[in-house]
Amino acid sequence: MELVTTREELAKARAALTGTVGVVMTMGALHEGHETLLRAAREQADHVLVTIFVNPLQFGPNEDFDRYPRTLADDLEVCRRAGADVVFAPGREEMYPGGEPLVRVNPGPHGEELEGHSRPGFFHGVLTVVLKLFQLTRADLAFFGEKDYQQLTLVRRMARDLDVPVRVVGVPTVREPDGLALSSRNRYLSEPERATALSLSAALRAGVEAAEQGQDAAAVLAAAHRAFGAGTPGAELDYLVLTDPDLEPGPVSGPARLLVAAWVGATRLIDNTAIVLAPRP
Ligand code: PAF
Repeated sequence: MELVTTREELAKARAALTGTVGVVMTMGALHEGHETLLRAAREQADHVLVTIFVNPLQFGPNEDFDRYPRTLADDLEVCRRAGADVVFAPGREEMYPGGEPLVRVNPGPHGEELEGHSRPGFFHGVLTVVLKLFQLTRADLAFFGEKDYQQLTLVRRMARDLDVPVRVVGVPTVREPDGLALSSRNRYLSEPERATALSLSAALRAGVEAAEQGQDAAAVLAAAHRAFGAGTPGAELDYLVLTDPDLEPGPVSGPARLLVAAWVGATRLIDNTAIVLAPRP
């Protein structure tokens, strides 16, 4: 496995890869969820390229950029074990020579909702760095977790709308046995906060169960809200919504997505699940 930190080194390493290249973009602090992305990349592409970069553009002024976990040595070990060929871990100057870019990707209306509503400018920052990394890595396939469902949807949309020659592959969320979705931010949680954080997955589970019983969209959402409220107190709900799989307003039947975001102490957590609403007469 080769570690590169400059665009010149990356270009050289990339040129040596023949066949298809799958990229897994990360901000480090790799966990089992990332390992699943790496495995999917390993299975579906001839070579795996991992990027590790804590992107300042996607953090608001009061967010956790400074305290975001930085664990490069451990991350490299995870990449090595997973069979990555190249890891690109640039510094801030390398990614943004001359300072933060004046031109950024506009994520469109779905980038202003949900996470984008609570974190203004977030998806402008995400899509800008993702597009830069697409250009630098020239990957054929890109693997993104469904855990960040709005991000996955917007990256897909960007690739389609801006003719980026890459196939975006969504990879299912990995959960702890009790349902908590794996996230680099889970390591901020104290033990009591971790118990509180289960409100998110409990809400999603209740929504899925209600849908499986044939309940309509309103009842599914109500069941999810009830389960969220019944969890260990302390989670502050930001949103709990039902949309169609492309984040368009809630469908009355068929495939849908249930998405939740909440604050647990100082930590913001998100989660989501696929849901199938029964046909309505
Ligand atoms: O999902 C993440 O870790 C980040 O948003 C990404 C895609 C690496 C862009 O910084």
